[in-house]
Amino acid sequence: MQEDGPVVVGVSGASGAPIAVKVLEALHAAHVPVALVTSEASAEVVREETGLDRTGLERYADTVYDDSDLGAPIASGSYGTRGMVVVPCSSSTAAKIALGLADTLLTRAAHVHLKERRTLVLVPRETPLPTILLRRLATLSELGVVILVAAPAYYLKPRSIDDVTSYLAGKVLDHLGVSHRLYQGWKTGGT
Ligand SMILES: Cc1cc2nc3c(=O)[nH]c(=O)nc-3n(C[C@H](O)[C@H](O)[C@H](O)COP(=O)(O)O)c2cc1C
Repeated sequence: MQEDGPVVVGVSGASGAPIAVKVLEALHAAHVPVALVTSEASAEVVREETGLDRTGLERYADTVYDDSDLGAPIASGSYGTRGMVVVPCSSSTAAKIALGLADTLLTRAAHVHLKERRTLVLVPRETPLPTILLRRLATLSELGVVILVAAPAYYLKPRSIDDVTSYLAGKVLDHLGVSHRLYQGWKTGGT
């Protein structure tokens, strides 16, 4: 891990685009450089769920790479990063990463984070979780990948979808080692 390197943020075509936006905003606010790569399928979901086009998502990224650019720096282990998150992570992308398929920049960058044993966080959003995906996720978890399911913490009594989104984005930042004020932990809020 390179402390001053960028966090690679991969956005794939699962539901949960608002979490990606919140993660990008929070990393930007924390002055953490971001290298962004989005899958082709993500564009439709991002537009549907946030109303943002590609440019809107790219606003908080320091560097933006095309998913077909397999010669980009983040495709190589020699390029230092602070870690990577795929948020949201589609079942398809999770399966590809688990199988070592790296035919897009997003999946190649994830593969590099695995091979270099760097922090890799995946945020799957699927329910019910089919056995075929659970098997892939178990493989990834055994390899040290953080499987951060997009599940609300009801005990924190969220008042809105935005509260839930902030909580999930905050959990992502926790695992990337970036401090934030996106949510307050159990019994630390004082209310
Ligand atoms: C509106 C919409 C919502 C979707 N939600 C999910 C989802 O929650 N989880 C998932 O795994 N796939 C979801 N999909 C399907 C993926 O987009 C599809 O499997 C795609 O091939 C994933 O490609 P990617 O992994 O390269 O981004 C959704 C698709 C659309 C259009």
